[in-house]
Amino acid sequence: MKIAISGKGGSGKTTISACLSKVYLEKGKRVILIDADPDSNLKSTLNIKEEITPLIELKEIIAERTGTKPGERAIIFKMNPEVDDIPEKFFYKNGNLLLGIMGTVKGGGLGCMCPENAFLKAVLRNLILKRNEVVILDMPAGIEHLGRGTTEGIDWLFIITEATEKSIETTKRIEKLAKDINIKNIGVIGNKIESDKEKEFLKEKLSDMKILTFIPYFNEFKKSELEGQTPWEAVPEILNYIEEILNKMEGKDGR
Ligand SMILES: Nc1ncnc2c1ncn2[C@@H]1O[C@H](COP(=O)(O)OP(=O)(O)OP(=O)(O)O)[C@@H](O)[C@H]1O
Ligand SMILES: [Mg+2]
Repeated sequence: MKIAISGKGGSGKTTISACLSKVYLEKGKRVILIDADPDSNLKSTLNIKEEITPLIELKEIIAERTGTKPGERAIIFKMNPEVDDIPEKFFYKNGNLLLGIMGTVKGGGLGCMCPENAFLKAVLRNLILKRNEVVILDMPAGIEHLGRGTTEGIDWLFIITEATEKSIETTKRIEKLAKDINIKNIGVIGNKIESDKEKEFLKEKLSDMKILTFIPYFNEFKKSELEGQTPWEAVPEILNYIEEILNKMEGKDGR
């Protein structure tokens, strides 16, 4: 299962990515979790204290694999560098979890033609197309990480949305991008829901989209961040909502 998670800034992408990995790990699955958001915070959400080097900072490795020199502006480089060994060597490992942090691509984002990008994209392609683990991608609101050669490997795109006009605008924009690149399954997760009215609002505004679940607004999350708790330590029932998502994905609820 390969799942990409997107949505407006602050909507809950990282919280939900982390909880999703927790549920799969509890089921005994091996999970690769990727922080693909330049403004990354997955590590702190998971309350991991160890240093994790973002992939973009592996200058020597990137140079070696792409056939360039570190720090030099390269005009010719390998678009398909060898990266099979990267997760085992450079990701954070804990039991059945591998966590990789992509880091920030300076200037031009992932669109730029540079060795760093070729390397990051190769790592993503490798994870999505070649690995057997559950792969979960915590992405920014842009989905440019998913491009030719990777989209066909993505089973689901989850778009996290709050019950606000702005969040819905972003959701629709992401949906359009995802359809343009032929993502197979797109599901919406309503997050920080405070009333039935908010649910109805989302159902109406997103009537043509598949809504996987509505997660309530939990006050406890604020406190949990201060105290260094994971989301499920602060609010154990959050995992029930994740289970509901998995059931809907498999069509178990009959809808
Ligand atoms: N259901 C919820 N109830 C209350 N607070 C929530 C809920 N889900 C997430 N939050 C809080 O909202 C904030 C943003 O969540 P999170 O970091 O998961 O979002 P994000 O979409 O990854 O943000 P960013 O765009 O900054 O990466 C965090 O403080 C988180 O604890
Ligand atoms: Mg985030």
